Amino acid sequence: MIASTFAQLNRADAAPEDGELRPQTLDEFIGQERTIDNLRIAVQAARMRGEPLDHVLLSGLPGLGKTTLCMLLARECSRRLHTTSGPALARPADLAGLLTGLEQGDLLFIDEVHRLPIAVEEYLYSAMEDFVVDVPIDQGLGARTVRLPIQPFTLVGATTREGHLTAAFRGRFGIHEKLEAYPVDHLVRILQRTARILGLSLGATAAACVATRARGTPRIANRLLRRLRDLAQVRGAPLVDQPLAEEGLARLGIDDLGLEETDRRILGLLHRSDHGTLGLKTIGAGVGEAEETIEEVYEPHLLRLELIRKTPRGRELTPRGRDWCRTHPLSGASPHEA
Ligand SMILES: Nc1ncnc2c1ncn2[C@@H]1O[C@H](COP(=O)(O)OP(=O)(O)OP(=O)(O)O)[C@@H](O)[C@H]1O
Ligand SMILES: [Mg+2]
Repeated sequence: MIASTFAQLNRADAAPEDGELRPQTLDEFIGQERTIDNLRIAVQAARMRGEPLDHVLLSGLPGLGKTTLCMLLARECSRRLHTTSGPALARPADLAGLLTGLEQGDLLFIDEVHRLPIAVEEYLYSAMEDFVVDVPIDQGLGARTVRLPIQPFTLVGATTREGHLTAAFRGRFGIHEKLEAYPVDHLVRILQRTARILGLSLGATAAACVATRARGTPRIANRLLRRLRDLAQVRGAPLVDQPLAEEGLARLGIDDLGLEETDRRILGLLHRSDHGTLGLKTIGAGVGEAEETIEEVYEPHLLRLELIRKTPRGRELTPRGRDWCRTHPLSGASPHEA
């Protein structure tokens, strides 16, 4: 279904193929130079001191490379990596076993760290700061806890919602790195690398064509390339050139700005609204997507293109967005407004 192309294209849990395309070393990681530099320095300094790396918080929209970076960090530090996620840790007890099993310098990766229940988050504080945990012994009336030391370790938290973290938690991470959307030339390099891995021939203009429509996101760029590979395959030519890329993207309903049907419906809703401003809830209900999906998948690209803006009252079209709606019939604008 076209309506949720990007929601599907950029969903981590539906991305079993992410693995084979993941860069295997920090050198292979394309772009985000400032972040990579900072992490390299932190890793090297920790190595020189013989200490574990400071706790790292990686934030950024879905598909920008947080999980990949965490794996590369473990490799750079030559340490073991343990992986879990916020929603998987329902109670402090779920975490206690993990923490007491860590070896010196291990990395503990908690994905979606903003979704940790508050009790679990608070349980982490003493582990992060003093490398001790309170372990419950006995039950019922005689219940008590004993404080146990754990091995110094590195917590790596990944989040698409840094703003949802409490200040107390955020403050306990020594290293904060925010991944930003990738410029087109970096996405072109990522696509060329992916094409090499997939054994696909990708023309330069076709690569640029896909990169400009990939919403600044490597995962989306890679997924689009896979769909184009399918098309090339059924056509019997293992080559993605400009005409094939244009055709394939049009088939997915993706236009030259990288907008798809849901984006166009969001723009159309804003265009038709009485006061020109709509809240996130209304937009989500109007296009049949969760508010979170609107915020993480659709809105960032519309904001980057300066088609919409955020105001204290909600979202509204910019002059550029209004122009776009007037000139594009697919915005859903009613004829008298167009
Ligand atoms: N800098 C990069 N260079 C090359 N490929 C990259 C880069 N960043 C991400 N990728 C590719 O994009 C895919 C998605 O990256 P990753 O899973 O690390 O994103 P994420 O930020 O963890 O997303 P989510 O928030 O959805 O979990 C990876 O499989 C990898 O192939
Ligand atoms: Mg991830």
